Amino acid sequence: MNQHSRGIIVAGNWKMNQTNADTSSFLRTVNEHPLIPTLQSSPVTSLIFPSFLSLMTAQNEKGSSLEIGSQNTHWEDHGAFTGEVSTTALKEIGIHWSLTGHSERRQYFGETNQSVQNRTLHLLKNGFRVILCVGETQKERESGQTKTVLENQMNECISESMIPYLNGTLVIAYEPVWAIGTGLTASPRQAEEAHQLLRKNLWDRFGIEASGRTSILYGGSVKPENFEELLECPNIDGGLVGGASLSAHSFLSLLETAARVAEKD
Ligand code: PGA
Repeated sequence: MNQHSRGIIVAGNWKMNQTNADTSSFLRTVNEHPLIPTLQSSPVTSLIFPSFLSLMTAQNEKGSSLEIGSQNTHWEDHGAFTGEVSTTALKEIGIHWSLTGHSERRQYFGETNQSVQNRTLHLLKNGFRVILCVGETQKERESGQTKTVLENQMNECISESMIPYLNGTLVIAYEPVWAIGTGLTASPRQAEEAHQLLRKNLWDRFGIEASGRTSILYGGSVKPENFEELLECPNIDGGLVGGASLSAHSFLSLLETAARVAEKD
């Protein structure tokens, strides 16, 4: 088995950045790069999560090697949920990826493990691939609670009804909150340790096959300079990248690294 048997996912989380005009200009640059057409036949999956308002532009202007996802999605098909977006509306424009449980949603918008579970299950049942984020805060790490926090998040966000989707459809992102947007990256050792813990949680609860087929991405100040050493860890299957995914130049450089690492396997 090669090291990246699950493939490598490079996902850009744009958060509340990039207008429609920025999105077009980003995609023009990315689409012109010679690496892009080669990705289709490679084990590298590249995707971006623009803000809701730029999803249509991104979907219309993306090349065939790039995928587009929603940063957040509701658990009902429609209804009185001001400010939310449904799978129905996303599917209509061809979107089949979503993030759930990002720490900024948990921290600022009252997202709980239960609402993350609701969103994730609804998305999976509707044919979406989901990147579900977990991660501990600095305070939790310093007080020795990392293991408990991560296990609780996994146990409460991933339910037995999700077993059919533990075949690569559901992806986990380990994002230590202290490393997000701070320039502090978890060391490859710290990240690998956490990824092992998450994979063991899947193994203990759902068995070896589910655990072996689920990609686990690292997120938190990933940049072109540190991506390769992170990808060299056996349990790191890609990156969820905020700041360094905003410029086409650095996003392309992350994709180049992923393609090079996949080639070496
Ligand atoms: P960052 O964000 O790469 O800017 O640290 C990562 C994320 O929040 O997904």
